[in-house]
Amino acid sequence: MSSSPAAPTPVASAPAAGVTARAAAVVPNPNAPKVLVIATGGTIAGVQNAPGTLGSYRAGTLTAEQITASVPELARYARVETEQFSNVASTLVTPEMWVKLAKRINVVLLRGDLAGVVVTHGTDRLEETAFFLYLTVRSNKPVVVVGAQRPATGISPDGPINLLSAVRTAASPKAVQKGVMVVMDDRILSARESRKLYQRTGGFDTGDMGMLGVVASQGPEFFFAPVRRFGERSEFDLERVDTLPKVELTMSYPGGTGQTFTTNPKGVVVATTGMTAAENATYRALRQTGVVVVTSFTSGENVNGGGGGGDGPPPPARTDTTARRDSVARPVVAPVPPNVVAQHLTATKARILLMVALTKTNDPREVQRIFNEY
Ligand code: SIN
Repeated sequence: MSSSPAAPTPVASAPAAGVTARAAAVVPNPNAPKVLVIATGGTIAGVQNAPGTLGSYRAGTLTAEQITASVPELARYARVETEQFSNVASTLVTPEMWVKLAKRINVVLLRGDLAGVVVTHGTDRLEETAFFLYLTVRSNKPVVVVGAQRPATGISPDGPINLLSAVRTAASPKAVQKGVMVVMDDRILSARESRKLYQRTGGFDTGDMGMLGVVASQGPEFFFAPVRRFGERSEFDLERVDTLPKVELTMSYPGGTGQTFTTNPKGVVVATTGMTAAENATYRALRQTGVVVVTSFTSGENVNGGGGGGDGPPPPARTDTTARRDSVARPVVAPVPPNVVAQHLTATKARILLMVALTKTNDPREVQRIFNEY
């Protein structure tokens, strides 16, 4: 839904009709696993400008405590703790905030008594934050990112049921070693694949790769597990990282000539199904300046070996300029650094993987290895 990101003003809202009655019916489980809910804002914390309508609202208004208090049923499945990381519309979430959030989650998951973490987040940028956490949270405990497409005080909000499903998933031993997940509308999606397809409930999907499982009435049920690198097997250590390398994102199109940048990026992602000759020349020249260029299929669905949308594998380096019959030394032609190809990643997610990869290496062959493994 559309929102106007206003300055967060915590509201002292009375419990919605029915919450008090529901709370009376809940028998808390004192032995339930502990789950930490870290709130960042979004529509799940949104308050309608005219209560009970479907009109405009302020995302990132209710606090973590208010959101969890509106779902008394959480106490049946988890002993919930809360933490307020931020309270903003997710369009205001920055890469620096991703780094801080991942660091915080890496710290709290060291707690032996904590089963998992839930991050509440605006849906506009949910898939990006979730994927960053997927790459950089080095734990096998469940981390679940959740949002809502209708504000908490609107008609039939989806936030409470989404939060309940997210907490049940984060508390479940079945969710261990599944990486960071997105739970929306009872679907359990890998953060690597989740995408916001539209602004209505049911709007989160995973494209061709399918979902990991479902939150059924009896609890989370998994059918699949991710097999690429994440969690404990991730090589990305944020210990000494506060800001991420600059990576720009652009699209190729018929008649395109390619984009040049004044921002001095370390990397560029081009969303393309195949480049024009002029685009190829532009990005080839960019690669020769040391910028790492990644191509990602526009749909994010393609799985390609290497060279797609670029120049193909690099030519062998020419170093020998003397062994010519005419004995005339020719200038050495520096090999063009190869184009990196993203496998089954949307361009926005390819950008995030490139930002993270560039914290380790500028070598496009090594970046390709990373794109092949994550
Ligand atoms: C936001 O992303 O913060 C607003 C939209 C939403 O959460 O659905």
